[in-house]
Amino acid sequence: MELHTDLYLGDSKEELRKLNDNCIDLIVTSPPYADQRKDTYGGIPHDKYVEWFLPISEQLLRVLKPTGTFILNIKEKVVSIIPFATKLAA
Ligand SMILES: C[S@@+](CC[C@H](N)C(=O)[O-])C[C@H]1O[C@@H](n2cnc3c(N)ncnc32)[C@H](O)[C@@H]1O
Repeated sequence: MELHTDLYLGDSKEELRKLNDNCIDLIVTSPPYADQRKDTYGGIPHDKYVEWFLPISEQLLRVLKPTGTFILNIKEKVVSIIPFATKLAA
C-alpha cells in the first residue's frame, strides 16, 4: 500500500477549506490552550475561545467522514466547552 502525505502549513481555518467534504478518517488536534501559552504562540482569551474555535470546528466536522474519528487534546482551564461539544454532537 503506497502512503501519500500532504502537509498544509497555515491557519487551520483557511487550510481546512482546501479539503473536500467527508474526506478525512481521523482528526487528532491539540488546539491552543486558550491564553495559557500566550508567550509561546499567542493564545486566545478564554471568553473568546468558543467563538474562535467554532468556525474551525465547523470545518473539522465538514471534512470528517461520517465514519471518521475525532480526537481532541486540550488542557484544563477550559471555561465553557458545552457550546462546542453540543455543536459537535449535533
Ligand atoms: C497546544 S499547541 C499543540 C502543540 C503540538 N501538539 C505539540 O505537541 O507540539 C497548539 C498549537 O496550535 C498552533 N495554532 C494556533 N492557532 C492556530 C491556527 N489558527 N491554525 C493552526 N495552528 C494554530 C500554535 O502555534 C501551537 O503550536
